[in-house]
Amino acid sequence: MKHTHDSDVLVIGSGAAGLTLALQLAAQGNVTVLSKGDLNTGASAWAQGGIAAVIDPTDSAENHYHDTMVAGAHLSNPEAVKHTVKQAPTSINWLLEQQVAFTQDTSTSTGFHLAQEGGHSHRRIIHADDCTGRVVCETLTQQAIKHPNLNLLTHHVAIDLITRSKLGLPENRCLGAYVLDRKCGYISVFRARFVVLATGGSSKVYLYTSNPDGSSGDGIAMAWRAGCRICNMEFNQFHPTCLYHPQAKSFLISEAVRGEGGKLLLSNGEPFMHRFDTRLELAPRDIVARAIDHEMKRLGHDCVYLDISHRGQTFINQHFPTIYQRCLGLGIDISRDPMPVVPAAHYTCGGVWTNQHGCTDLAGLYAIGETAFTGLHGANRLASNSLLECFVYAHSAALHIEQNWQETVLLQAVPNWDETQVTDSDEAVIISHNWKELRRFMWNYVGIVRTDKRLKRAQNRINLLLKEIDEFYRYYRVSNDLIELRNLALVGNLIIHSAQQRKESRGLHYTLDYPTTQAVARDTILAPPNFEWD
Ligand code: FAD
Ligand code: SIN
Repeated sequence: MKHTHDSDVLVIGSGAAGLTLALQLAAQGNVTVLSKGDLNTGASAWAQGGIAAVIDPTDSAENHYHDTMVAGAHLSNPEAVKHTVKQAPTSINWLLEQQVAFTQDTSTSTGFHLAQEGGHSHRRIIHADDCTGRVVCETLTQQAIKHPNLNLLTHHVAIDLITRSKLGLPENRCLGAYVLDRKCGYISVFRARFVVLATGGSSKVYLYTSNPDGSSGDGIAMAWRAGCRICNMEFNQFHPTCLYHPQAKSFLISEAVRGEGGKLLLSNGEPFMHRFDTRLELAPRDIVARAIDHEMKRLGHDCVYLDISHRGQTFINQHFPTIYQRCLGLGIDISRDPMPVVPAAHYTCGGVWTNQHGCTDLAGLYAIGETAFTGLHGANRLASNSLLECFVYAHSAALHIEQNWQETVLLQAVPNWDETQVTDSDEAVIISHNWKELRRFMWNYVGIVRTDKRLKRAQNRINLLLKEIDEFYRYYRVSNDLIELRNLALVGNLIIHSAQQRKESRGLHYTLDYPTTQAVARDTILAPPNFEWD
């Protein structure tokens, strides 16, 4: 068994962000890409609606900028928004060069069908039917598999980053990561001149989520433990419409359904969005999710309904084939009946602080995609701006790495993972109990509507859990479940702390104790205890 693996670039994550960066850098040298499950099991492959970008001549970058700022409750960093919106058409062109087959519409000047989603003043969502993520990921994976400089390793989980400071060396820098091979249980050292976190979000910290199981905030937790700042974690986005069905785990009903006229209804068929916002079903997500939550609690109902049946079977099958088939498989014919839906945790707006090149606080470490905090999303992400951010910042970070390629980085000798003090656990069930407990109290106390009291309750519980998990981690051999639980608990703690610091309601953070929005918008920036300010 090999103890040490060396590459020029180590990319932790094989979603839209990780694969894009890897493909951009493969011509420069050898790039290792890790995925903790099979390829394409991250959130990227599940994306439905599409990618926001101004490609229609009647639209403008100013409109996209304005819509992003409004959705983000004016907390977004104007420079990050400008950068993203400006680079969007370049990213779409790059995807077209990679042969991504976006849905066409020959009746439009662009040749592509552009969808409408909440908070967008124009139709600007380029997509591949209602399975954009799958089409994009499969295309990028095909390109990556062919490339001789790319080494794609599945079922490899990064546990922690290795830094010079952790080895007691001066001039701190990221040197690589300890990585568990899930198939054989072996832990190796992966060294690299540049390390990129592309590990996705952390919505799995909530009981109900649209996300795949692996969205456990690993990158955010690893960066924090390596001394990086983490920002705006109180802003976890709840998507308004996940399918409510006992056999449908985490199945999203795309916002594009509302974009094409889908109506939200109560169980008696009564519409309700007019009571919450003049933009009705196409108000930004925080508003729609809160409206649904309010109606469900007011009436004691388990769900509300989304009805697109008036568009007829041909239209529905043409625009939403994945959703149509999935619902049909569960006995719901959406061309005739409304779909039962509930809000669910969907997207982590905060994350690892980065600059416009994807650089974190730690030299040699980059963060891109959902794991990063670029300042783009502010207090609430605009629909379909996430995949866009993955592509734009993967390009920016790749460019920065390319420009610093000649930098001499000494691949320091790194000690092997020490397992001499640990044993196999005979109480693995504790891990699954802790998982359930954490996700339930995060949902109940740190969810769509918050109060100081609820946050305090969550704080008390998480303190206990952190202690238990820390002991477990010290005495027992690590497994993927334990790694994810440890990371989720840390991320949950960061969310609670961030929420406690924000004494206002803004975007996705809504608290009954501070219902108004303050005049000045400020980010919540948490720095680890050992953080070395420049
Ligand atoms: P991911 O695609 O989640 O990939 C993370 C990768 O990191 C995976 O390969 C995973 O295995 C790996 N990983 C994680 N931890 C480790 C570790 N410790 N070691 C090794 N590997 C690790 N956004 C849009 O803009 N438009 C949409 O239409 C849209 N639809 C969505 C629909 C659904 C159902 C969901 C869940 C999200 C949707 N989003 C959408 C959001 C968007 O898909 C995600 O924000 C985006 O895809 C994140 O990409 P990523 O590359 O950052 O992470
Ligand atoms: C959706 O299709 O509704 C998801 C879009 C997004 O998360 O941006």
